[in-house]
Amino acid sequence: MKGIILAGGSGTRLYPLTRAVSKQLQSIYDKPMIYYPLSTLMLAGIQDILIITTPQDQELFKRQLGNGENFGVRLCYAVQEEPKGLAQAFTIGEEFIGEDPCAMVLGDNIFYGNGFVEMLANACRNAQEGKATNFGYEVRDPERFGIMELDEDKNIISVEEKPQYPKSNFAITGLYFYPSGVSQKAHLVKPSKRGEVEITTLNAMYLKEGNLKAELLGGGFSWFDAGTFESKLEAENFIYSAQKNRGRVIACLEQIGYDQGWLDLENLKQSAELMQKNSYGQYLEKIVQKQLVKRKKEGQ
Ligand code: G1P
Repeated sequence: MKGIILAGGSGTRLYPLTRAVSKQLQSIYDKPMIYYPLSTLMLAGIQDILIITTPQDQELFKRQLGNGENFGVRLCYAVQEEPKGLAQAFTIGEEFIGEDPCAMVLGDNIFYGNGFVEMLANACRNAQEGKATNFGYEVRDPERFGIMELDEDKNIISVEEKPQYPKSNFAITGLYFYPSGVSQKAHLVKPSKRGEVEITTLNAMYLKEGNLKAELLGGGFSWFDAGTFESKLEAENFIYSAQKNRGRVIACLEQIGYDQGWLDLENLKQSAELMQKNSYGQYLEKIVQKQLVKRKKEGQ
């Protein structure tokens, strides 16, 4: 299974903030925005990840994340020359994807909540079985998003991009799983009226074949599309409070890499030392100490 993070876009909605530094590298409290979608792919068990950026921003992303070895993943980079639609990610990433199933997450989408890992596992299984998965989340302003209409059994019966009269309040969040062959399909997507190769058109193709499944992010779940001043601030406040209350760092990539068995304790220690002056590093150091005590008890 491969993964793509789409972090292109002109970011004009966040001007003047994004004049010099791309949206997905801006902070969401104590880490860059892109850590959150990267954590989503890692929680899905995906290690091979392509990061798509604008040509001018690629260097900064590389400086921030490198080749991913600090997190136990393999990162590579590609460029989207112009923001011509989300489905373009699969034609840009065609070689990278090869014959594998592939997930994509938008670089400004933040997911946090109960049962997420199980839902990601379901989506991976669907992809292996030839089916695509969209993640739905109930919102109060459905006109702003791609929308899924559901029947009584929670099957998707229609998808529409930012409809004027939405048929439901379930937004299609910026996380998509597709089976092998997604690039070939993406080539068939015709540009919409606004001139973009829409992800919703790609999803509609899977729906027409009977191959589009929904995972619904429930009541206790939080989803942010941090692409406006307000939603970015809301996301930051949420992450700050949730981390403070629970004593856990959300989207701590080193921790996820360790839990997945992709990093060893020595790797964690190095990252902890590098950031020992702040709460992120101290959190990592605590994990290291806990593991050392556990090992001692087990006599290793
Ligand atoms: C994009 C998609 C939309 C989706 C949203 C999720 O919209 O086109 O279907 O609901 O991401 O974040 P954008 O935020 O690019 O306007």
